[in-house]
Amino acid sequence: MGVRTLLGLNKQRAVVSNESQNPATNSTLFRSLPWLTDRALDRIEDFLNNFGGRARALELGAGASTIWLASRTQLLSFEHDPQWAGQVKAELAQRSISADVQLVPRPYFYRLEEFPNASFDFILVDGRDRVECIRRARRLLAPGGLLVIDNTERIGSKDKPGRYYEMTYLLSEWACEHFKQVGPDRTGWEARGPWMTSVYTRAAGTSAEAGYEQDRSDPYHEIDTTRTKGGVRYDLSLFTQLNEEYRSKPLVPRPRQYDQSSVADHGAKRADFLLGKHDLNGKRILEIGCGRGEVARALARKTDSEFLGVDISEYPDWSTPSERVSYLKADLSAPDAPDIGKFDFVYSLAVWEHVHHPYAMIRKAYEVLKPGGILHLYCNLYRGPKASHRYREIFFPWPHLLFTDEVFEQYYRSIGQRPKGAAWVNQLSVADYVAYFSLAGFSLQNLTFSKTPIDEEFYKRFEDVLGRFPRFDLEKDFLRAILIKPTTTDRGVNPFKFIKR
Ligand SMILES: C[S@@+](CC[C@H](N)C(=O)[O-])C[C@H]1O[C@@H](n2cnc3c(N)ncnc32)[C@H](O)[C@@H]1O
Repeated sequence: MGVRTLLGLNKQRAVVSNESQNPATNSTLFRSLPWLTDRALDRIEDFLNNFGGRARALELGAGASTIWLASRTQLLSFEHDPQWAGQVKAELAQRSISADVQLVPRPYFYRLEEFPNASFDFILVDGRDRVECIRRARRLLAPGGLLVIDNTERIGSKDKPGRYYEMTYLLSEWACEHFKQVGPDRTGWEARGPWMTSVYTRAAGTSAEAGYEQDRSDPYHEIDTTRTKGGVRYDLSLFTQLNEEYRSKPLVPRPRQYDQSSVADHGAKRADFLLGKHDLNGKRILEIGCGRGEVARALARKTDSEFLGVDISEYPDWSTPSERVSYLKADLSAPDAPDIGKFDFVYSLAVWEHVHHPYAMIRKAYEVLKPGGILHLYCNLYRGPKASHRYREIFFPWPHLLFTDEVFEQYYRSIGQRPKGAAWVNQLSVADYVAYFSLAGFSLQNLTFSKTPIDEEFYKRFEDVLGRFPRFDLEKDFLRAILIKPTTTDRGVNPFKFIKR
């Protein structure tokens, strides 16, 4: 069905919700608003209002946005996942909203070649192969039209280009507004990391061909990101099957809560734990990756020490005044990290796994400690069963070692949630950490682990993949190391002398 067949459709407003069951439809699959940042959505709504429901819209990647856009535009939507396309269509039918949702196998950008220039007033790129979709969608937008791209936090920077960096070249001539979401969005959902939607405007008056570079040499090959090993296909169907098998015996039966009082309780418990291990009075103390800062505040209440909490993100809780606790937004592993002076004690809890330059951070911890000072490090290990950080929705062990991020994303889509892969966790093993401690000059005083026993039956089923890791790594969730900066500069024999410190 072409775009024109959409004219005159019923534009009833869809109100489906993912946050709570919608009484009108019994739907729990779709949230009420597109997965776009709040201010981007306002901008889009203002723009679409000018067309009185007649904006010609193209959406690449269907979902909650389909329901929302279908009630405001003449919508054509491409989706590659048959199951998801079916769910979106069923939801539209249930709501009596019409839209042209087409199931198009990946890569669907080849279908964009079929349309004449300036066919659309609005294009949303929120699915697969985004850079390629952008490249081919540019000429399809009428002058003055909007091209909206979600997750542009993945553009990165010139020095650290991200997955979508190439789009900055493709759209270098376009007017651009980046809308970042800080804190929970209107539905109450809060991204764990940065989240940005960008709105690009095709300048009015430019020719429909402007910015269009035709690349006929590009083969439209199928991209299959599913892993196959030992005859097993690690695809969505296996992922879903395993999750159902483990639903009644989840890996983490009671995940940590993040409401204010649970956070404060957790902070107090961690503070007591640290106080049980170390004398923390009369000291200058640094927390690396302090998050909201609840541990430092709890420790400050129980000691007379001075605390500095450092994190790459700033948290609203930092504005609550607290005696002897200050905060700093910085990445201490960066070469241009600020000078923060010297400390008697440094601790870090559940952070190092997310640090992109873990060795640089270990060296920094060493550098900021006074001789004789202690680093108390507690961090998640990549080879452990829970390191995907997705155990709230994914119940079986080691999903991140078995499945690609694309399959994670397909699964989240299939349950009506924002697609996401496993969390970014550096892949250091216990042996890597121990080597790095020594290389940085630390003396290791104590090393302990929290473990989950290996699920032997599961291990046997997937030994083809899991067998590549030592079993002692597969059972370790967290490492806790107590490290001392020696008082003399003599580091003894350096077993890693072949590596420059
Ligand atoms: C899982 S949270 C843990 C926060 C807190 N320590 C806790 O246990 O609740 C990880 C924290 O590490 C921070 N982080 C990640 N990389 C960092 C870096 N390079 N420097 C400082 N903080 C970092 C994140 O911003 C986040 O606040």
